[in-house]
Amino acid sequence: MMKRNTWNNKEVVLGVTGSIAAYKACELASRMTELGAKVLPVLTRSAAELVGPSTFEAITGQRAITALFDSLQNPDVEHIAVASRASLFLIAPATANILAKAANGLADDWLSTTLLATRAPILFAPAMNTNMYTHPATQANLNTLRARGCHFVGPEAGRLACRTVGPGRLIDPPIILDMASLLLDERNDLAGKRVLITSGATREALDPVRYLSNRSSGKMGYALAIEAMARGAQVTVITGPAEKAPPHGAERVDVETAEDMDEAVAQRFSEADIFVAAAAVADYRPAYAPSEKRKRTGQTLQLDLVENPDVLGRACGQRKQGQILVGFAAETGDLEEMGREKLRKKPVDLLVVNRVGPGQCGFGADSLDALLLDGSASVTDLGHAGKETVAQAVFDRVVQTLQRAVAPVDHI
Ligand code: CTP
Repeated sequence: MMKRNTWNNKEVVLGVTGSIAAYKACELASRMTELGAKVLPVLTRSAAELVGPSTFEAITGQRAITALFDSLQNPDVEHIAVASRASLFLIAPATANILAKAANGLADDWLSTTLLATRAPILFAPAMNTNMYTHPATQANLNTLRARGCHFVGPEAGRLACRTVGPGRLIDPPIILDMASLLLDERNDLAGKRVLITSGATREALDPVRYLSNRSSGKMGYALAIEAMARGAQVTVITGPAEKAPPHGAERVDVETAEDMDEAVAQRFSEADIFVAAAAVADYRPAYAPSEKRKRTGQTLQLDLVENPDVLGRACGQRKQGQILVGFAAETGDLEEMGREKLRKKPVDLLVVNRVGPGQCGFGADSLDALLLDGSASVTDLGHAGKETVAQAVFDRVVQTLQRAVAPVDHI
């Protein structure tokens, strides 16, 4: 199964404004071009001082626009025509100045003029000095633009070019691209649906500084959240500690232990239409976690472990009120047989069985060897698939199940 490509043949205006992070827009241009988009680079005067337009031209194969009247030489980039043709405007990095111009409707160069003329989605990735970002004027402009339906990703906190530390750093390009791809996606088959996802590992305290946990990275939960959002769902991710945080745009609930996760799910479950349990929840926790740090005793240490709540198990049992349930099973051996066994224990609507074990992908990796099993025990072998592809297959099935549920029934 191939991952769907939302970028293919889309025209994207990449507005680059005068922040030191302008060089990072080269990576954005390169990746979007590689994904099949026609990328039109537009550099403001200050951006062109920082990165040469020819760099963007070489990367995208398109003439870079640097002045309003460039369209006199090339009618193809006449700003009103581009404004109505483009599928997305991505302004990255976006300075305080472009945000102020856009918020106030100024139109004194190609980019600001075209932003005013377009009805395509606009995504800003701000980057600036912390004081400029937190200034009430900038914050008011952000609020105005948000209220008008513009989208934002970042900035993040970090070390800035002005040698200060604080919010204002351009968020990582892959995160910008994930957000942009959501805006380009035209599927809306989960519009109005609420998706609840558990993700990451849990940590079970041994004492105030030590814990039992596992290697779950949160990457599967991230891919599932992105896919559900791309299809128009409202997504909540309940995440234990993980290397990969939930995507921007999803509601995020942080938990630490299996018991916390169970409680967080219990609070939100009745409102969900779809529940996907992608977290690697610890099945056991130490029976006792002293409030003081455990000391070496020179003796063997024995730990008593007690069972944790089975979050998905409870969803299959007393909590279910018509939600579609998706579970994951990490297995060694015969995946299909193991999967069927698991379905008997936890009767979910869809089970993703993936291979783990020495030398296998799975935890922490970007791809899985996976099978999809549904309630009627039909099997789809996804083979060796990226986590995005697995997420796509999961929600394709969920959508089919929803459609079957509303299909008219023939009366005899
Ligand atoms: N799960 C859960 N709460 C738990 C344990 C697991 O919600 N306490 C969910 C996982 O998120 C996953 C599925 O249940 O969707 C995994 O099922 P499980 O049978 O617990 O898998 P393993 O623990 O890997 O299997 P086993 O118990 O057979 O070792």
